[in-house]
Amino acid sequence: EKGGYDYFMLKEIVEQPQAVADTLLGRVAVDGTLTLDEMRLAPSELREIEKIVIIACGTSYHAGLIAKYAIEHWCRVPCEVEVASEFRYRDPILNRQTMVIAISQSGESMDTLMAVRYAREQRARVLAICNVNGSTIPRESDGVLYTHAGPEVGVAATKTFLTQLVACYLIGLYLAQVRNTKFGDEINAVIEQLANMPEQVERVLGTVGPVRDLARSLADSGTVLFLGRHVGYPVALEGALKLKELAYMHAEAFAAGELKHGPIALIEDGLPVVVVVPSREGRGVLHDKIVSNIQEIRARGARTIVIAEEGDESVRPFADELIEIPAVPTLLQPIVSSIPMQVFACELALAKGNDVDQPRNLAKSVTVE
Ligand code: F6R
Repeated sequence: EKGGYDYFMLKEIVEQPQAVADTLLGRVAVDGTLTLDEMRLAPSELREIEKIVIIACGTSYHAGLIAKYAIEHWCRVPCEVEVASEFRYRDPILNRQTMVIAISQSGESMDTLMAVRYAREQRARVLAICNVNGSTIPRESDGVLYTHAGPEVGVAATKTFLTQLVACYLIGLYLAQVRNTKFGDEINAVIEQLANMPEQVERVLGTVGPVRDLARSLADSGTVLFLGRHVGYPVALEGALKLKELAYMHAEAFAAGELKHGPIALIEDGLPVVVVVPSREGRGVLHDKIVSNIQEIRARGARTIVIAEEGDESVRPFADELIEIPAVPTLLQPIVSSIPMQVFACELALAKGNDVDQPRNLAKSVTVE
């Protein structure tokens, strides 16, 4: 049942090219037209949307944070992202022109379900992104986009995270098409690249071998920090969460621009810091800023573990360890940059002798509030 792998988590990491292909299946036509039937929201309704609110927990929340960057850029619709357990306790402003997107792998997280019920009471239109067919959250929502990643047994979300990202991108791109935003050419180019993601994911999996040795060499570290910018920031948050839940290690993520506002004081000799470098395409300024951040922390003794695009020579002199990922459009980079994070956390946890499929104190589906 583990398909020859020792752990479900390893199997599920390797299944990601297929999972991503399955999320895309039947939804992207060769001419770039998107079909999202189960959304059950008519184009006329989608044109009326004035605000999007994404609610989710844990890893699904990180997918939501990434979606915000894509949706606001492509669709020019204000988009908020909130942890589901906080959402309904602060009197959020919702109405018929609000689209709430609830992201939940299991479709059963009680916090997310309660937020969905609250949103519907306030007359918002609710769209679910879920992996488990017929689960409670999609049943109680107006529409659904299933991720079709197949069953995920490991407690840590891996393939379902990547496919949630794909589902979020599909929604953002579809909204942009329906609302006819001025980014037509960019949208078409991104759709083409999105359709190509299964191959890119496959390529990353082929190159992460050295990440395993690196992870094992860090098994005795007390803390690991993660830095990112733009969509790389939620990827850093996700990398830190994976390390906490699997390796039971202290891990924290920061937006790299925040370093100078406090966290840089944490840097000391030998401290491992994982940095996600933004793609050079379209975000050149951020790219150069993060390269300076890497120099700054390295000068203070950090052991820099840099995740950057292939051929990005500018980071090489400051990277103690360099993990290369394929160059893809900026907004899609999390699909490829998250994978080394998964392998890193999984391998570190295994080096510590932890059960990666059943980490202590955690459940796959959190059905209590
Ligand atoms: C992390 C993880 C959890 C879940 C969270 C939400 O690897 O699995 O953080 O992401 O409990 O679960 P769902 O998506 O089922 O609502």
